[in-house]
Amino acid sequence: MPKFNESEMAEMKSRFLAVCRTVNRPGMEDLLDWLENSDFFTAPASTKFHGNYECGLLEHSLHVLDKTWDLVSKYPNLGISKDSVIIAALFHDITKANYYVKDYKNVKVYSENGLKRDERGRFDWVSQSCYKIDDKLPLGHGEKSVIILQSFIKLQRDEIYAIRWHMGGFDSAVKGGDFAMSKAYEVCPLAVMLHMADVESSYLLETIEK
Ligand SMILES: [Fe+2]
Ligand SMILES: [Fe+2]
Repeated sequence: MPKFNESEMAEMKSRFLAVCRTVNRPGMEDLLDWLENSDFFTAPASTKFHGNYECGLLEHSLHVLDKTWDLVSKYPNLGISKDSVIIAALFHDITKANYYVKDYKNVKVYSENGLKRDERGRFDWVSQSCYKIDDKLPLGHGEKSVIILQSFIKLQRDEIYAIRWHMGGFDSAVKGGDFAMSKAYEVCPLAVMLHMADVESSYLLETIEK
């Protein structure tokens, strides 16, 4: 059962596009054209974690925008620009465009008494649709978002920091002992906020389809 119906999906997409078009940045229309020709507006946000359903990525990007705004508005003295918030939040996961493909998996069937078994005690299995990863541009997570974006619009330094390091401690480089993220967070409040908004959206706002 899809989480969103057609009109909800169309509403999210039109909000996304309308917000992007408030940004004054050369190349934005080319970027939006590229998105339109990718699966960005229908893709899931993950295979088995938050937003693992059609339009999960779009839903997630809009949640991250709202949550980043909440944080930015708490610190007006920092002077973080509206356009930077929009670019960082809405495009931080552009790395996931053209990244997932539909697949099928066999899952055990449950009844009201728990796992369903046949008369010989064997589990009952059914084929269920799911997503799997097919990374056609393996450049890293945040890194790939920055690289894709830079081929359409010129990112500002803070936007690069925020997008590159939005995974925080979950980032592979950080897990491998790289300290660059800490340095970026020291000099770029937007990067800290984007990571916090990403975690809040993923774990508190979005659901997982089993
Ligand atoms: Fe991400
Ligand atoms: Fe994200």
